[in-house]
Amino acid sequence: MRQNLLRADSALLTYPIREVVEIGKQLEKLGDFLMTWENIGDPVAAGEEVPSWMHDVVQEQVASDNSFAYTETRGDSKARQYVLDNFSNKKKCSLNDILFFNGLGEAINKVMNNLPKETRVLMPSPTYPSHATAESMHAGCSFISYELDPSNDWEPNIEEIENKVKFNEFVVAILVINPNNPTGSVYKKETLEKIVAIAKKYDCFLIFDEIYHHMTFDGVKTTLLHEIIGDVPGISMKGISKDIPWPGSRCGWIEVYNADKDDNFKGFIDIILLTKMLEVCSTTLPQVVLPHLYEHPEYEHYLQSRINKYQKRADEACEFFAKMPQLRVNKPKGVFYLVVELLDCPRNQLESINKDVRLFLDKIETKNNPADFQFAYELMGAMGVCVVPLTGFGSQVNGFRMTLLQEDDAVFTQTLEKISSAITEYYKHD
Ligand SMILES: Cc1ncc(COP(=O)(O)O)c(C=O)c1O
Repeated sequence: MRQNLLRADSALLTYPIREVVEIGKQLEKLGDFLMTWENIGDPVAAGEEVPSWMHDVVQEQVASDNSFAYTETRGDSKARQYVLDNFSNKKKCSLNDILFFNGLGEAINKVMNNLPKETRVLMPSPTYPSHATAESMHAGCSFISYELDPSNDWEPNIEEIENKVKFNEFVVAILVINPNNPTGSVYKKETLEKIVAIAKKYDCFLIFDEIYHHMTFDGVKTTLLHEIIGDVPGISMKGISKDIPWPGSRCGWIEVYNADKDDNFKGFIDIILLTKMLEVCSTTLPQVVLPHLYEHPEYEHYLQSRINKYQKRADEACEFFAKMPQLRVNKPKGVFYLVVELLDCPRNQLESINKDVRLFLDKIETKNNPADFQFAYELMGAMGVCVVPLTGFGSQVNGFRMTLLQEDDAVFTQTLEKISSAITEYYKHD
């Protein structure tokens, strides 16, 4: 090429939740086994059957020509009205403040990429990688974060958030993921109110990723941003991927609050809308279907039965891992993942690995990889279980995230046993 095509900051472009799959697929071939995929939050891939009434609803809508057409750039007006009436707050938000995207992943990228390069969004660590990667690609350097503390149930340190905002005038927004992926925390109202107060004090806006707002255990309720935001400008991010087993529909949205309170913030949202306009609109079908799915008489009961299933998995996994001194687990209050911390994570190799797999792993296991990546590779090679290393979520803490989605009780228990025997052997040499 007459000019270099590679951006200098392209090394920042990572998405470990899927990157481990590339390695896992090669290991499957070399070791001639089938991997148990515990890396990705897709219930359908984990064996969940889409109920027939959902198929019927989609088929009914696909029969209408309307679902074949472009829709408005902001999104289908009935879908936006449904979101406004059911998930949002008419005092803080109007129909025009709801913007649909092809999955929340797209919304995250549009929000981060449309900020001026020098401005920063302060985000949690660990965090969902799309936020961290989009923010670092926008800024051209590593993301900046506040720690979630595993010794305090993954709560954020409010003082740290305030200091990071106060002493960095380029921080224009604070990101909160609640309920939290990967940690499973559902934050207390007081914690969230303190974060809102910091945004107000330093004239920042808020981004709350609330895509798991329905996915909470034991009757815990999510405090939504619109309930506590007051007059601070903010964005709530939601979508259907977690509520409905149709993540492949690629359907997410943002709800913009208090846009009328700050012209500069409103101008930023107008730019997001303009960049969406360049793409015309998001896919029509899932938006047209959305109100019919949420309003279906079977929906509430169906959602609750899924939540109960994930909670049962969380209970079993926590009980199982709590017995192991090498680990720390915090019982999730929601979402469908479990984070397991690998305490003083060593760098070892497991014995029960065939020669070809070992040769491959020797090539990729370098000292540049954090210790939990090495554990994840060894776990794949020896036990055929694919998890995501916790440092892949931008965390300093070693560990891994597995899903609670496995449909088959016996397979789930076997997976826990495989992970536990890998951990026992991995720590044996230390
Ligand atoms: C916290 C969080 N935000 C956003 C997304 C992206 O969702 P979507 O499937 O709508 O792109 C996910 C997906 O796993 C997520 O966990």
